[in-house]
Amino acid sequence: MISIAAAGGAAAIGYASVIERNWFALRQVDVPGVLPDGARPLRVLHVSDMHLTPGRHRLMSFVRTLDALEPDLVANTGDSIASPRAVQYLIDSLGPLLERPGAFVYGSNDLFSPKPRNPLTYLWRTSALDHDRDEPDLPWERLGEEMSAAGWLDLNNKRGRLKAGELDIAFAGVHDSHSAKDRYDMVAGPADGMADLRLGVMHSPEPTVMDQFVADGYQLLLAGHTHGGQLRVPGYGALVTNCGIDRARVRGLSLHPQVAGAEGKTAWLHVSAGLGTSPWAPARFACRPEATLLTLLPR
Ligand SMILES: [Fe+2]
Repeated sequence: MISIAAAGGAAAIGYASVIERNWFALRQVDVPGVLPDGARPLRVLHVSDMHLTPGRHRLMSFVRTLDALEPDLVANTGDSIASPRAVQYLIDSLGPLLERPGAFVYGSNDLFSPKPRNPLTYLWRTSALDHDRDEPDLPWERLGEEMSAAGWLDLNNKRGRLKAGELDIAFAGVHDSHSAKDRYDMVAGPADGMADLRLGVMHSPEPTVMDQFVADGYQLLLAGHTHGGQLRVPGYGALVTNCGIDRARVRGLSLHPQVAGAEGKTAWLHVSAGLGTSPWAPARFACRPEATLLTLLPR
């Protein structure tokens, strides 16, 4: 009996770390009612949480296929690298996507190299304190310089503006709340109502930050960080979110807030379950790694 259980456990670990971790999915999601009347739909490719290391050839091959989707805009919500040598691999993988309009924020794992951690600790606390120990030791500045040099907007506690498709888009973003580097005060204030679309971008979908984006009039919020729970229980879903959001909204499209307050404001939220894993937790279960093509539609 014990040997059967042990064999089952070994098979599950093998599946999660070898098969599902490399079983990349492209999700396609419609976002209704965010563009002006009569506007042509806008295709937004949302990538996140690649945690790239030089050996992840299947992940890089998948990312190289994404330009064929011909997105109008690319959004990268952070945790792109997990090795000091990963920046060039990331840039090469993104390839022609960098010639398209794009925007990015950092996650804490773009700054700090991964370290081993007992995954069970996620059950009683988030990893928010794990990076207090160090000065950043990953080449996050070069990562940002490469994406900025290609024309992508750096939205780490910054606002920005881009034309994508036929639309004028106003952006605001924050650095990672998970490592206490978010400074919403630096982007606070009403979003430009003259823009055709107002987008808020962040790594970790923290409700207190998202409340501020919504109050300022941002219509669609993009985030990553959660890995969709990473190890999900079929029929139950994510055990944890590793941030302030509830389990039901750990990945995919939802509303924030779910029930509009006195001012009646609400925004769409898309949380990417991400493409990678920490090198120290190389497994995904019932939560395939993903990129998402969002199709934004007119009112
Ligand atoms: Fe991540």
